Amino acid sequence: MILVTGGAGYIGSHICVELLNQGYEVVVVDNLSNSQLESLRRVHELTGKTIEFYEVDLLHSEKLSQVFANHPIDAVIHLAGLKAVGESVKMPLKYYSNNLTGTFTLCEVMKEFNVKKLIFSSSATVYGTPERNPIEESASLQAANPYGRTKLMIEEILEDLYISDQSFSISVLRYFNPIGAHPSGRIGENPKGIPNNLMPYITQVAIGEYSELQVFGNDYPTIDGTGVRDFIHVVDLAKGHVKALEYVTAETGYETYNLGTGEGYSVLQIVHAFEKASGRKIPYKIKGRRSGDIAECFSDPSKAEAKLGWKAEKGINDMCEDAWKWQRNNPNGYSSERSYSYSHD
Ligand code: NAD
Ligand code: WQD
Repeated sequence: MILVTGGAGYIGSHICVELLNQGYEVVVVDNLSNSQLESLRRVHELTGKTIEFYEVDLLHSEKLSQVFANHPIDAVIHLAGLKAVGESVKMPLKYYSNNLTGTFTLCEVMKEFNVKKLIFSSSATVYGTPERNPIEESASLQAANPYGRTKLMIEEILEDLYISDQSFSISVLRYFNPIGAHPSGRIGENPKGIPNNLMPYITQVAIGEYSELQVFGNDYPTIDGTGVRDFIHVVDLAKGHVKALEYVTAETGYETYNLGTGEGYSVLQIVHAFEKASGRKIPYKIKGRRSGDIAECFSDPSKAEAKLGWKAEKGINDMCEDAWKWQRNNPNGYSSERSYSYSHD
């Protein structure tokens, strides 16, 4: 049985679909601070399989222990965490407390129950301003904000944990920019309030929620002056976790992997690709640079291909089409639907 922390969230719900489709049994722990149970009801609808769900905060060690006592957990995919960069600058203690303490508690309970296989959601943000692109896993690390520092600190803590007990098997996955949604249009990204990230903002312009996109800077040294990122389809990303799970099950060690496509697209290239995929015009205005942004960032994903046998398959058109299908079919995200009734306390 696989424990997915943060499994009701955007990436976690897609991972649950892939795990269930591969025949794994899944238990999810999530405090629903940034998600709704409706996501897991739809995972059930898509797969015909049931998830054991616990509305538990990772910081609550006794409740978390009870989950491990109730189920024979073989491995953990740890996604639970807060992820808004801007909020982390304003509320650093909230981020350090939630992301670091949540991880400590989880690792302590894992040790107590002798569960030693762990996959952790890290981020390309740990590379800070990259010295060069594409970025290899061996590049220097320097996070530029409290959110990024929680990822960097957790990576270091997990490596120390492995050094202290080499029966652990830990894979750290550094995601580049996950976008898109399940091709069914039933699960997807459901940001609370004004979206911080590019694709959800574009899709909300497309449904008329906002009148125009603000493009943060067109004076970067990039193809058209706008920021360049390595956008990756969330379903490809989810499949990478299944591959990493096979790896941690077979091997011990501590490894880091980039999960990206290896290709960079600019903000305006994404706008135009989205317009083509959706048939909607996306009005935009060029604004000043967003503080903390970098010009360009894309991965060298060859280590994941060589060691995990994983490679992203979907292109920018799939990402835009699926993001649009999700947004068009669910203009209010999960909010308008009845809640998922299958739940433990
Ligand atoms: P998300 O907010 O949709 O999912 C995170 C989930 O964790 C949410 O359901 C939230 O309710 C839950 N959670 C938070 N704190 C918790 C706690 N203390 N106890 C229990 N549950 C808790 O975010 P996502 O986009 O699915 O991201 C998942 C992971 O991937 C995060 O760790 C994030 O930092 C990382 N990541 C995301 C991106 C991205 O662009 N989305 C990029 C790189 C890394
Ligand atoms: C992409 C590009 C913006 C919004 C963030 C986190 C990172 C990771 C992924 C978690 C940039 C531009 C954006 C808008 C815009 N998350 N943009 N108008 O900043 O690369 O990465 O999400 O780990 O840690 O920092 O992604 O989607 O916010 O921005 O012009 O309304 O789009 O300036 O060039 P980013 P993003």
